[in-house]
Amino acid sequence: MKRRLVVGNWKMHGTARDLAEARELTRLPANANRQVVICPPATLLHRMSRIFEGTGLSTGGQDCHSGESGAHTGDISAAMLLDAGASFAIVGHSERRSDHGETSANVQSKAQAACKAGLAAIVCVGETEEERDRNIELEVVGRQLLESVPENANGDNLAVAYEPVWAIGTGRTPSIDDIEAVHEFARKQLVERFGASVGNSIRLLYGGSVKPNNAEAISNSRDVDGCLVGGASLNATSFAAIAKAFG
Ligand code: PGA
Repeated sequence: MKRRLVVGNWKMHGTARDLAEARELTRLPANANRQVVICPPATLLHRMSRIFEGTGLSTGGQDCHSGESGAHTGDISAAMLLDAGASFAIVGHSERRSDHGETSANVQSKAQAACKAGLAAIVCVGETEEERDRNIELEVVGRQLLESVPENANGDNLAVAYEPVWAIGTGRTPSIDDIEAVHEFARKQLVERFGASVGNSIRLLYGGSVKPNNAEAISNSRDVDGCLVGGASLNATSFAAIAKAFG
């Protein structure tokens, strides 16, 4: 059985005092069936990684640059994330795609850089509300997947997060049938591209308004191997409840 992956994305939230939530989270009982990760702002990454040492919990960055180093003011390389204690890097989150104009080609370069540095990339894809209304979500997700996931992807160095843009931070989620339809489609594409063994080993996460009260249903959905959680990951109690629903 694949190990479930539960990832919290703190986005641009959190200063030193919020590390209390990370300390609280260390009380979550270890469970071999699930991997629990928090991606805090870069300023907290090192301190949070220290707090998680020896607990089985992991940290990740929310983005990385595609280059190894250089004149890129404000950017952070994958090696720097690793150096600060991270094991993962989210790339291509819809907020990065819209706030910073990141294309799927950019996302693929970032994912490649993350893997090369020894991190596992969490590649985000998902349709907008307008695209969902036009019933072209599979086409959109298919294209993003194809263009964002690098050739050397496998179950150890990469996970995919399906996050419908209209479900992020809104309290709205697709129906379980709709989540399963997109995940089934994504799985098929990964298997066609990478072969059954690798394609089936890449974990598919659902993201967008995952809360303690819907985590169980989402966790039990076909082809859902974990989740990416924004708002509900800021609080240790709600994030722990979600993690427990996944393993
Ligand atoms: P949300 O965010 O859980 O607050 O909807 C999810 C995400 O953006 O990863």
